[in-house]
Amino acid sequence: MSNKIIIKTKIKNFNKKIYVSGDKSLSIRWVLFASLAKGISKAKNLLISQDVIAAINIIKKLGIKVQFSKKICKIYGKGIDGYKYKKNLNLNAQNSGTLGRLILGLLINTPFPIKLLGDQSLSNRDFKRVTDPLSEFGAKFKLHKNKNLPLTIYGSNNLKPIIYRENKGSAQCKSSVILGSMRANGISTIIAKKSRNHTELLAKYLKLPIKINTFKNYDLIKVNRVKKIKKINYEIPSDISSSAFFIVLTALNKNSKLTIKNVNINSSRTGIITILKKMGVNIIFENKKIYKGEKIADIKVNGAKSLKAINCPSKLNSGAIDEFLVIFLAAAKAKGISYFKNLGELNQKESPRLKWGKYILTQLGIKTAVTKDSIKIFGNPKLNINKKIIIKNYLKDHRVFMTSVIAALSFGGEWSIYDKSSINTSFPNFLKIINELKK
Ligand code: S3P
Repeated sequence: MSNKIIIKTKIKNFNKKIYVSGDKSLSIRWVLFASLAKGISKAKNLLISQDVIAAINIIKKLGIKVQFSKKICKIYGKGIDGYKYKKNLNLNAQNSGTLGRLILGLLINTPFPIKLLGDQSLSNRDFKRVTDPLSEFGAKFKLHKNKNLPLTIYGSNNLKPIIYRENKGSAQCKSSVILGSMRANGISTIIAKKSRNHTELLAKYLKLPIKINTFKNYDLIKVNRVKKIKKINYEIPSDISSSAFFIVLTALNKNSKLTIKNVNINSSRTGIITILKKMGVNIIFENKKIYKGEKIADIKVNGAKSLKAINCPSKLNSGAIDEFLVIFLAAAKAKGISYFKNLGELNQKESPRLKWGKYILTQLGIKTAVTKDSIKIFGNPKLNINKKIIIKNYLKDHRVFMTSVIAALSFGGEWSIYDKSSINTSFPNFLKIINELKK
């Protein structure tokens, strides 16, 4: 089967209700916490994508049984010290930065060296950002080029608590250290710039020894050694990062309407909603509820008659970090010049996304001014293209692929977009839902 998709026609107006797949961040966290719980944990609507399967394969290699029956995933945890560490263990996080970074926090007590590997994209990403703080606990690391995968972790049985300042706004760094703190002897302190807080909410829900004090620009988190995690049954809500593609597709198609059911709207994830509302898109949350500490709602969005440019406040960056590529498409059609700044972290993702954002926009005929951490987008409300566009060699970044599909369906032209299988990383159902909207 060809791994390329060809799109030659714009999408017609739609008025639909859809379900997107389970939240990736929550799915990976559930797998990791359940692997250390005592008893059988069950999850419904777990995201079945490569990143989550990689997490399952890692815990299986650590001796934890996992079973799927019907649509339920069962993890047979053996308690906080239940991992079976053995010699010459190789673990592969594949494409997942979240998995690679979080799992290291849990492995700092390994009695044998463990090798952590990843695919080509993950092997280019910075792991020093987590091995530096994790070394403070007493673990040691050997990294490829002092920074990358493959790396080897040498654990310790005498882990000291640490004080750690997380100043990138990275939930992966913060979470890796929270998980490491769960294994250290004493109370660790984490002073973290705001970022997604699923790890903290799950730990709180499980009544683990964690205290969180929230201040305007940072969170103060204290974590003590964890002795026991009780089993955890979870119905994973839908992923706002996967929803983002359909939210923007709807916003860009002025006579369309969409409802996305049961989405996690944790306020550390809703940057895209704030940004699009500021740009003039009508979005509302309906049927709001709280589930195990997480906020959930149906998202209703209407196509926008016109879009306004935005000077995006940097405080929204972390809450929209995975959505910027697709947000740039909204800016491409807005009236005026949009400006997104302090976004160096975007180039630390599965591919250098600021660069790919510029590439896609240039293909659309949109002028941009890009620095190493910012982009200005000179919008064109009449944007409509009529040429051939090829998108390839983007390190198989799922979000470059999906953003390109949304651009093709919204702005016209004849697109050949390579590496369709990249969607398996986070959202295998993506093209199926696109087809539902076309019906
Ligand atoms: C994630 C955190 C973010 C995000 C990633 C998922 C998580 O990464 O980009 O897709 O689940 O913790 P950073 O923490 O590096 O910003």
